[in-house]
Amino acid sequence: MQNITKRFGGVTALSDVNLEAYSGEVLAIVGDNGAGKSTLIKILTGVYQPTSGEIFLGGNPVQFSSHAEATAHGIDAVYQTLALADHLDPAANMFLGNELTHKVAGMTLLDNKRMRTETERVLMERLGVRLKSLDAPTVSLSGGQRQAVAIARAVYHDDLRVLVMDEPTAALGPQETARTLKLIETVKAQGIAVILISHSLDDVLQVSDRIHVQRRGRRVGVVNTADTTIQEVLGLIVGAAEEAA
Ligand SMILES: Nc1ncnc2c1ncn2[C@@H]1O[C@H](COP(=O)(O)OP(=O)(O)OP(=O)(O)O)[C@@H](O)[C@H]1O
Ligand SMILES: [Mg+2]
Repeated sequence: MQNITKRFGGVTALSDVNLEAYSGEVLAIVGDNGAGKSTLIKILTGVYQPTSGEIFLGGNPVQFSSHAEATAHGIDAVYQTLALADHLDPAANMFLGNELTHKVAGMTLLDNKRMRTETERVLMERLGVRLKSLDAPTVSLSGGQRQAVAIARAVYHDDLRVLVMDEPTAALGPQETARTLKLIETVKAQGIAVILISHSLDDVLQVSDRIHVQRRGRRVGVVNTADTTIQEVLGLIVGAAEEAA
């Protein structure tokens, strides 16, 4: 993303922001409330259009006028408030709006059996996850399992190139958080560029390769996770250097 600016009326949410993400890497985006993290990734995923600036995918300029267009280019997102239908089972969620069908006696019917086996296969083959029951409504799954279903839905598309996760562990306990971080590593190992927005520096230091720091609508630094400290990242987030000056 190059020189992205986004204004909402008189509010400048993003000023001239650059962001680089690479396949097989986890890029974390951190920053205080209102720093512009969600706005930035909503532009990347086609939910918002930038006021100015450009997006390049594999070096080619792209423009998304909708989330569907971004998805078609292999960019997808998993949000904290998971867009899962609680009352439907995992397979129905996996294929929501994209149902598999078959013809029976000339009629088109939902192919529930294949949706279930595909869901089972993707969860196991791509994420190493087995759900105890594929019959239960999604609301009865644990937070980590719900997260797995949401990620499975994204990685089901073989041409997924960028997966954005906005606060995936915010609502999870420690065990579920650990599982979700493992899923992130699994997705990364498949050559997908993962972008992780998180308020948990522990998670970020554990799972990211680089950290992009947003402050008041600007990118104020990018650091290699292996070479940084909590103090350095916190300093960037609160603008310590700026304040000292
Ligand atoms: N749809 C909108 N209309 C008007 N202002 C908006 C809109 N979306 C975001 N903003 C403003 O843009 C700025 C950046 O918001 P954004 O949601 O991107 O921050 P964030 O870094 O994701 O914060 P948080 O950590 O709280 O999720 C804020 O000042 C916010 O009020
Ligand atoms: Mg946000």
